[in-house]
Amino acid sequence: MSAKIIDGVAIAQKLQQEIASQIKDLTSKGLRAPGLAVIIVGENAASKIYVNKKRKMCLELGIISKDYNLPDNLAESELLKLIADLNKDYTIDGILVQLPLPKHIDSNKILEYILPDKDVDGFNPYNIGKLSLGRSALRPCTPKGILTLLQSTGVDLKGMNAVVIGASNIVGKPMAMELINARSTVTVCRSTTRDLPAIARQADIVIAATGVAEMVKGDWIKQGAIVIDVGINRLPNGELVGDVDFEQAKEVAGWITPVPGGVGPMTVATLMENTLYAATVLHSLV
Ligand code: GUN
Repeated sequence: MSAKIIDGVAIAQKLQQEIASQIKDLTSKGLRAPGLAVIIVGENAASKIYVNKKRKMCLELGIISKDYNLPDNLAESELLKLIADLNKDYTIDGILVQLPLPKHIDSNKILEYILPDKDVDGFNPYNIGKLSLGRSALRPCTPKGILTLLQSTGVDLKGMNAVVIGASNIVGKPMAMELINARSTVTVCRSTTRDLPAIARQADIVIAATGVAEMVKGDWIKQGAIVIDVGINRLPNGELVGDVDFEQAKEVAGWITPVPGGVGPMTVATLMENTLYAATVLHSLV
């Protein structure tokens, strides 16, 4: 094995300790703790696991999480009404609506309805626009967390060739923006891109976010490259694997994130970071 492991658990824990300590400072001064509304609609099993992780982390760090577990048949108008109420609630700094939503609810409409300064997921078009302008605002958690992981290697991102595989609104597109802002040279591909292995082999940084288990093989990776695996897939034998064939890639890469224990913990820690930022900077809780 040649690659160094980027330990997402340890890096997330360090960030969480800093956040917990800042929240302690706030409350010891008599200020309120940051508040996060966490909304889940329906019974998606994976979403329930993610939401529970977010709520548990709030509790550990001293963020007050207001939990909404809503039924699958919830009317879109009722969800909009809840968001309108939370937009007005001064004890709530962040509103998170777990995706995907049931098909009868228009996700774009819901995300646009969340006030930009409470949009701790960074999915509102205003915040996506700010990100693409390179102006600091609430930034999507997974790509922002990946930037923290990349910075932890100490490698200068300026001038690096980065290949992002996957072009979703949640990960691929904002990831490309983050890397452009960090002055990398960025290529965005999809799992269907022609000559994908050859393009990936040019990369100093590979970000795999295809949702296809172990798609990125060892011979797609340039010697010494940084490999970030956003995927989390369960194989028929129950094993959890990423979008990268870890066993092969670790022999070639310089740095690599494991699954689990890489990007996942950073996404949750970054959500907490965004909630504290919304409370202290955007809502002037100081
Ligand atoms: N579904 C998958 N990833 C995410 C995320 O980062 N935020 C929300 N709200 N939903 C998701």
